[in-house]
Amino acid sequence: MAPALLYQCLVCLAVLAGSATTTASHSQCLDNPPDLTAGGDQAGVVVDDLAGFKAYVTGAARSHRAIVLASDIFGFEAPLLRKIADKVGEAGYYVVVPDFFNGEPYTNGTNRTEWLQAHSPVKAAQDAKPIFAALKKEHKYLVGVGGYCWGGKFAVEVAKTDGVEAVVISHPSAVTADDMKEVKYPISILGAQNDTSTTPKLVYQFVQTLRQRSEIPYYAKIFPGVAHGFACRYNATDPFAVKTAEEALALMIDWFHKYLK
Ligand SMILES: *[C@@H]1O[C@H](CO)[C@@H](O)[C@H](O)[C@H]1NC(C)=O
Ligand SMILES: *[C@@H]1O[C@H](CO)[C@@H](O)[C@H](O)[C@H]1NC(C)=O
Ligand SMILES: *[C@@H]1O[C@H](CO)[C@@H](O)[C@H](O)[C@H]1NC(C)=O
Ligand SMILES: *[C@@H]1O[C@H](CO)[C@@H](O)[C@H](O)[C@H]1NC(C)=O
Repeated sequence: MAPALLYQCLVCLAVLAGSATTTASHSQCLDNPPDLTAGGDQAGVVVDDLAGFKAYVTGAARSHRAIVLASDIFGFEAPLLRKIADKVGEAGYYVVVPDFFNGEPYTNGTNRTEWLQAHSPVKAAQDAKPIFAALKKEHKYLVGVGGYCWGGKFAVEVAKTDGVEAVVISHPSAVTADDMKEVKYPISILGAQNDTSTTPKLVYQFVQTLRQRSEIPYYAKIFPGVAHGFACRYNATDPFAVKTAEEALALMIDWFHKYLK
C-alpha cells in the first residue's frame, strides 16, 4: 500500500492549487440529481422490513459477507446506485441498500438545511444498529459499508463503533479530519479533484490524521477531472465519467475483498 499512498499524496498535492480557487457558491451535493423514473434492469428486489427499514437487496444471498451501501441524499431508489449494488453483488457479496430516509429523500426545492436536520447521518448510524445486528443473525459475519456523500458520513460514524469490518467513502460530505481519529476499521477514501464539499485538501488532512494512527489501514485517492458525485451520479453517456465511476467501484470492491475475509 505504501507506494500507492505516496503516489496518491503526490496527486493530492498536485491538485491542491487548482482546487483552492474553486469556491462553493452552491452545494455540489445537489448537482446531477438522479432520474428516479429511469428504472432499468435490476437484479435485486425491494424488501419492506430489513430490521424495520425498506431496502433494496441484491447479490449473493448465501454469502457470509455483506455490504451495506449508504446512499447520497437522493436516496435508495437511484438507478445508478442500484446498478452499483448489483455489481458488488456479482463480486460475491450480499448487498443491502436501506432507505435511511423513510421514504423522504431530498427532492429539488426542499430546504437542504432543514432536510439535513431531519435526516442526520450521525443519528442514522445509531438508528441503523438493528440492520447490522440482523445481518449478523443471518450469518453475514463480515460486513462492510460503502457510503456516498451523505452516506460517507454515515459510514464513518458506523466505523467508529462495532459491527463492521471495513468502510469505503466516496465523495463524502460533512466528514472531518477529527472523524479520522475515531475510525476503528480499515477505511478507503475516494475523492474528486473538483469536489468543493470534500476538497482534495480535506482528503489530504484525512490522510495526515490516519497516518499518525499506524493501527488503522487506510487508502486515499483523488480522481482527476471529476467533481462531487462522480461515483454514483455520473453522466452515463460520458465515457470518461463512466470509466472513472467504474474505477471507483473496482477500488471499493478491492477494499472489501482485502478486509472482509
Ligand atoms: C430545481 O428547481 C428549480 C426551481 O425550483 C429549477 O430551476 C431547477 O431547474 C430544478 N433542477 C432540477 C435538476 O430539476
Ligand atoms: C432553510 O431553512 C433554514 C432553517 O429553517 C433557514 O434559516 C433558511 O433561511 C432556509 N433557506 C431557504 C433558502 O429557504
Ligand atoms: C474541474 O475543474 C476545472 C478547473 O476549474 C474545470 O475546467 C473542469 O471543467 C472541471 N471538471 C469537472 C468535471 O467538474
Ligand atoms: C453527458 O455526456 C454527454 C457526452 O459527453 C454530453 O453530450 C451530455 O451533455 C452530458 N450530459 C450532461 C447532463 O452533462
